[in-house]
Amino acid sequence: MAARVVPASPENIARAGALLRAGRLVAFPTETVYGLGCDATDDRAVAAVFAAKGRPEFNPLIVHVLGRSEAAVLAEFDARADTLAAGFWPGPLTLVLPRSAACPVSLLATAGLDTIAVRAPSHPVARAVLEAAGRPIAAPSANRSGEVSPTTAAHVADSLGGEVAMILDGGPCPVGLESTVLDLTGAHAAILRPGAVTEEAIAARIGPLAPPGAAVRAPGMLARHYATRLPLRLKAHEVRPGEALLAFGPDAPMGAAHTLNLSPGGDLVEAAANLFAMMRTLDRPGFSAIAVMPIPEQGLGQAINDRLRRAAARLA
Ligand code: TXA
Ligand code: MG
Repeated sequence: MAARVVPASPENIARAGALLRAGRLVAFPTETVYGLGCDATDDRAVAAVFAAKGRPEFNPLIVHVLGRSEAAVLAEFDARADTLAAGFWPGPLTLVLPRSAACPVSLLATAGLDTIAVRAPSHPVARAVLEAAGRPIAAPSANRSGEVSPTTAAHVADSLGGEVAMILDGGPCPVGLESTVLDLTGAHAAILRPGAVTEEAIAARIGPLAPPGAAVRAPGMLARHYATRLPLRLKAHEVRPGEALLAFGPDAPMGAAHTLNLSPGGDLVEAAANLFAMMRTLDRPGFSAIAVMPIPEQGLGQAINDRLRRAAARLA
């Protein structure tokens, strides 16, 4: 499909801001790689990003902001985070921090975690897009899952051309490698992904990082994922006494103590957008369990099922 690659002119950047505010996807250059951006506070837009990337699970996304003051609305900054933001932002350093209580970012963007990855990019086009959008932008690298990250607009067009409302061409990315991801949620800072900001440069500001052998918390680790307190009963075709029902599609069985439908029309993007919020809403005392109807194992259904299986397995 013909991709809409356009020059990063002021007019196109203003249009990109309007598209993002309307829930559409816009690819734009950062100093590291091209990002596939969406309004981080819009569940549907975030779900569309996962669908476009074809990710088989919900990896949490990096939320892009202009600087520390915008980031501080989303995340809790400690002294280390303040020092690093002052030293390296804007630039290719992503900080994983506790999610703030009032954080407006979609639960899907952070994959249901109680942490959030934030970064302030330095690329002038990325900054202009953030200004134009006026809200935090979630942006994974603009490639399909399993492909290498794109460093030119043409790479993005080849990989995701049909899925994106606009691809802003700002030339090749100067760094060409994804940002350093640094976890600051534990006593010891730990690099989750090496990048242009090196361990030495970080240690020079905040002291030594996690000692070798210290457990590094990978984002996929079960313990860091939201799990329901109530048992989840997957692939349910009927409800048992006392159960709440997380339904999907038009044929929800009757008799549940409470029913929420991920998508009455059977739309997987809508279902993904609703998943984490509905799990939380149903997870309250008074129900015996949450019965979850079968979700097809295709497209975003794979990621939805991956997440449901992890949440259910926690209780074993
Ligand atoms: O340079 C970059 O960081 C680019 C540009 C577009 O900013 N973005 C990027 O995003 O590489 P992505 O989604 O391809 O990689 C994000 C990485 C993943 O490894 C993800 O697991 C990790 O950041 N991450 C995001 N949120 C996290 C969290 N709350 N805890 C731990 N890791 C997190
Ligand atoms: Mg990536």
